[in-house]
Amino acid sequence: MKALGSLNDFPAADKSTYLNTASVALMYGDAEKAITNWQKDLAEFGTMNFDEKAEQEVFDDLHVIFARLVGAQPEDIAVASSATELLASLAWAIAPGRRSNIVSTDIVFPSTLYPWARVARYTNCEVRLLKGENSYADQEELIRLIDDDTAVVCISHVEYGSGQRYDLGRIAESAHTHNALLVVDAAQSAGAIPIDAPASKVDALVSGGYKWLCGPFGVAVMYLAPHLQMKLDPGLVGFRSHKDIWDLQADRLKYPDDASRFEFSTMAYGCAIGLTQSIRYLLRVGVENILAHNLKLADLLIQGLEEMKAEIISPGNDEERTSIVSARFPGRDSYEIAWDLGEADIVVSQRRDFVRFSPHLYNGTDDISRALEKLGQILAS
Ligand SMILES: Cc1ncc(COP(=O)(O)O)c(C=O)c1O
Repeated sequence: MKALGSLNDFPAADKSTYLNTASVALMYGDAEKAITNWQKDLAEFGTMNFDEKAEQEVFDDLHVIFARLVGAQPEDIAVASSATELLASLAWAIAPGRRSNIVSTDIVFPSTLYPWARVARYTNCEVRLLKGENSYADQEELIRLIDDDTAVVCISHVEYGSGQRYDLGRIAESAHTHNALLVVDAAQSAGAIPIDAPASKVDALVSGGYKWLCGPFGVAVMYLAPHLQMKLDPGLVGFRSHKDIWDLQADRLKYPDDASRFEFSTMAYGCAIGLTQSIRYLLRVGVENILAHNLKLADLLIQGLEEMKAEIISPGNDEERTSIVSARFPGRDSYEIAWDLGEADIVVSQRRDFVRFSPHLYNGTDDISRALEKLGQILAS
């Protein structure tokens, strides 16, 4: 099976056997060109081309395209420089009070939780974490932690370590029964797993650009449900927070009446332009097709790993699995295995005590075969 994304789309795909999208993706070629062109134009012409009107409208296309990716409307989308930045602004905007609690897991990526934990230290609210076992957090146990004092459930749609996927609709339903909000970090799912944020009834969903969306560092997007847009006072504010960004009167601040009130400052705007290109491309390929392709690669990988007697820690059932496949190799050091693979230009990550493989649309079965063959040699040595 050939890669779904061609070498034309991903010119770097033949430089290595790249199985590390859960860390950083190979970038879509036209995205990289758009970013470079924008940066060069700014360097050479300042505001001659990138004038005030262009700066005001710079996120418009990304609003439209990310909205399409998650089944939302352009006014439900905000853009900033990183997922952490958006989560931090949201956490301070919601700031659950002293008698409330925040529910999450202890296997979540730190940036998903830290902003909430920081706010909790300030407001003295409780942070209630489900203890994962062997990098797995049982969804029903997570739901049982939610009670009438829960203000926010914050989870990662797909866990960065094991690739475990949660059912957003099921968790949102339980959260809403208790009047709690569901905030989702989709950094490990957006671009790889179909998402319909309004249909799943999530209240907010955030993703950076550089993993499964095949965009750059320096840009992130957030879906904010309409019912929250007029209510929230963003934790981070700046000149772009004002409805008319060129008003520039420090003695007044009126937010836009939509999710864009979470946009607050200048940034590496070219990154937003590049990410728009990447998402447009992924939509053309189709996220359903990408998921089907990636899962076939994961199947092949799992089969090979099982033949090598590896201990696979990623869930195997259809509801919870993704193309992130993590494994331990009994008696062997994961760091050394990841290192030895890297020496052969097979790029994976070591996380906790396991090796994480994360193929995406630019991989084909030849990449998996090559990785397994080298792994076999490493294990035999
Ligand atoms: C689930 C998840 N959230 C967030 C991040 C990183 O966020 P940021 O781009 O803000 O550093 C990662 C990075 O690995 C991640 O796996």
